[in-house]
Amino acid sequence: MIQVTTSTYGKAGSKPIDYLNEQGIEFRTNPYGRKLTEDEAIELLADVEGVIAGTEPLTKNVLSKLPDLKVISRCGTGMNNVDLEYAKERGIPVLNTPDVHVDAVAELALAGTLCLLRNIVSGDQEIRDGNWNKVMGMSIYNKNIGLIGFGKVGRKFAELLYPMTGNIFYYDPFVDFDESCDAESVELDKLLSISDVISIHVPYTDENHYMIGEEELNMCKSTVKIINTSRGGLIDEESLYKFLKNTPQAGAYLDVFENEPYDGPLKELKNMVLTPHTGTSSMATREEMEYQAAVNLVKAFNK
Ligand SMILES: NC(=O)c1ccc[n+]([C@@H]2O[C@H](COP(=O)([O-])OP(=O)(O)OC[C@H]3O[C@@H](n4cnc5c(N)ncnc54)[C@H](O)[C@@H]3O)[C@@H](O)[C@H]2O)c1
Repeated sequence: MIQVTTSTYGKAGSKPIDYLNEQGIEFRTNPYGRKLTEDEAIELLADVEGVIAGTEPLTKNVLSKLPDLKVISRCGTGMNNVDLEYAKERGIPVLNTPDVHVDAVAELALAGTLCLLRNIVSGDQEIRDGNWNKVMGMSIYNKNIGLIGFGKVGRKFAELLYPMTGNIFYYDPFVDFDESCDAESVELDKLLSISDVISIHVPYTDENHYMIGEEELNMCKSTVKIINTSRGGLIDEESLYKFLKNTPQAGAYLDVFENEPYDGPLKELKNMVLTPHTGTSSMATREEMEYQAAVNLVKAFNK
């Protein structure tokens, strides 16, 4: 038996489910329709040999209670929810879909950027509240964009931005300088102080925990727009709340949160835009990602 825990599996198209059926795989989908807690994961996965996993915590505590589990196939790229060391100790292969998310996440970062610069969500809310209030926004043209992390999504986002602004900076100490690329490598402090838009594209790791906190936010421009489509826990949400409350011209867009589903005080702020971890929620991307996760699972079993 296989358990699919990623909550929207099969909703974007039938290709992944058709494939599992063709392969004669017996599987169940996520009955909660959302990210599982540790206890729910333990209960649901108790009798399975394989999991097509979302972002639920597959910690040592969870995995140690699943003696039959033989394969973890992550539907996605981020692996921070899986205790990789413990899985290795147990001889459980852990696979992921490392490339298929790139265009969709970069597009969402662009959407969030334009949304904040042009007050789209706050304008919508004003009309619904009965107001017709034309608030001046900012054009992206000639704005400084600072990308923290210059891997696949960071580079794709830069490519989307080039026709609109040439002023693209990045901070990523782990990539080599790339002459073919027009973005300029800078130190983090410089990026924080010169950028009109700051977008985070790094994985969540212990070292990257709260890489943007009070000190970093205080280095930013008072009109800065901060985007995080990567992972919760990279930004200290409490410090972000204080910063946005005290700096009304600044704004932030978060697709990811330290605790998901998110239900915290950032919801109160007008200069804040929130989406429920929808980085890959575009039909074609999602269908392909789910299909690739199913193929990876079958390949791992057939090894
Ligand atoms: N919102 C979503 O639904 C969604 C979907 C897919 C991926 N993601 C997230 O997007 C992240 C980026 O994806 P990717 O494909 O570009 O990953 P990637 O591995 O290609 O790139 C990550 C980059 O971050 C850099 N980096 C790591 N730590 C850093 C640090 N402290 N400072 C600066 N740079 C650092 C690495 O050197 C690398 O170049 C993923 O890790 C994942 O968490 C989110």
